[in-house]
Amino acid sequence: MKKKDILIVDDDDLVCHSLRELLSIEGYEVDSTLDGLEALQRLDETHYSVIISDIRMPSIDGIELLKEIKGKNIESLLIFITGHGHIDGAVEAIKLGAYDYVTKPIDDIRLKLTIKRALEKKKLLASYQSLKKKIRPWELDDRIIVKDRKMIELLDIVHMVAETMATILITGESGTGKSMLAKYIHRHSSRRDGSFVELSCGTLAETLLESELFGHVKGAFTGADRNKKGKFEEASGGTIFLDDINCASQNCQIKLLRILQEKTFEKVGGNESIATDVRIITATNSPLTEEVEQRKFREDLYHRINVVSFFIPPLRERLGDIEALIEYFIKRFNEIHKKNVKGITKSALQLCHNYHWPGNVRQLENVMERSVILSPGDFIIEQVLPEELRKDTSKNVDLNGQSLAAALAEAEKGIICNSLVLNNWNRQITAQILGISRTTLFNKIKQYQLYNPRKKRDAYN
Ligand SMILES: Nc1ncnc2c1ncn2[C@@H]1O[C@H](COP(=O)(O)OP(=O)(O)OP(=O)(O)O)[C@@H](O)[C@H]1O
Ligand SMILES: [Mg+2]
Repeated sequence: MKKKDILIVDDDDLVCHSLRELLSIEGYEVDSTLDGLEALQRLDETHYSVIISDIRMPSIDGIELLKEIKGKNIESLLIFITGHGHIDGAVEAIKLGAYDYVTKPIDDIRLKLTIKRALEKKKLLASYQSLKKKIRPWELDDRIIVKDRKMIELLDIVHMVAETMATILITGESGTGKSMLAKYIHRHSSRRDGSFVELSCGTLAETLLESELFGHVKGAFTGADRNKKGKFEEASGGTIFLDDINCASQNCQIKLLRILQEKTFEKVGGNESIATDVRIITATNSPLTEEVEQRKFREDLYHRINVVSFFIPPLRERLGDIEALIEYFIKRFNEIHKKNVKGITKSALQLCHNYHWPGNVRQLENVMERSVILSPGDFIIEQVLPEELRKDTSKNVDLNGQSLAAALAEAEKGIICNSLVLNNWNRQITAQILGISRTTLFNKIKQYQLYNPRKKRDAYN
């Protein structure tokens, strides 16, 4: 689409001509037309930053033109020209979203000023919009830290499905952030104003879990002395998050399947069908496929809850997140414990990169809380980190059925990647520290396809 500054719409040939001349001299690219309908046609081919239009015109008047423009989501700003006796029309136009109006006889200086202001506003809007496009939604969410490329790719897909009703299964080791991601999806979905209700299927005995999820009627079992609402009723209009879904009993599994297929359920002991409108997110840290194979988990339910699944990688496989998470936790625990720790030393950070974090982000969170509390000075130093981090200076290389060469290559990749991260991807310094030439380092970066998450291009480009 072509872009121009101004379109003038006025059925008075003289006005069109004089305004065109006035504004062209100012250096604007100006078109004009005598007819509102023709103006609309032009808007299909050209984007004008500003449209100056008469209000009273024969084919369609200015107000209709404005409505058409708004209906088509055209982002031009409209300035109306109105006679002294017809200010009411101009006021109505402003209410409908016009930018401003000028009265006849036109005061050239006032008109030029109004146009200048309108163009400045357009420029500001455009730069705000492009800034908004560049900022990923999670950067504006202060409850989640995402820096590693693997997580960025994951969150990009999360945003494609967050708005839909799709049932989501989140998998990943304990402490990787499954519950956090479920809450994030709810916050970024159209159900954000509804409730987010969570329940772990692993912590309750079978009948209690059923009653928690679906509610019960009075007398359903010993101790059920009144009717009780279940989580599915509480979550109606919102999201329910079922953690440790692998622990759901066979009975619960049948009921869940029914909710997913028919959107109805019955309370424990009740026979009335209750309708529910809930988005279901589930999570597990043990592979459900195994449970399906062993017939502990229904295959039909597995397929239903697994419409979209997200695997959150363990922390040791997303080193790009570690430094940002550390900064985030230091800030949080400074506030909670009234401390003023400013950061972490390079060598302490190195230990955090080398450690294999079996407890993932939760463990890092605990380590940082303890370190902030124990830190005597401005920076977290090696000595305040727990012993397991200080001992574990080399990663556990597990052959896992691979050849020795493959295992060595994996270890080499990890060491080079860590070193690059710690040295801000400065290849000269990294090569020196690793005791290899820059060419060897360059070749290794290429071989292992290492990627600098702070740059758009691959590190070896
Ligand atoms: N990307 C992140 N940014 C900020 N905090 C995070 C992130 N990932 C996890 N956390 C924090 O780490 C802790 C553990 O996360 P969470 O409870 O979501 O893990 P989980 O995978 O659900 O664990 P489990 O399997 O034990 O249920 C929480 O306090 C959470 O807020
Ligand atoms: Mg959890």
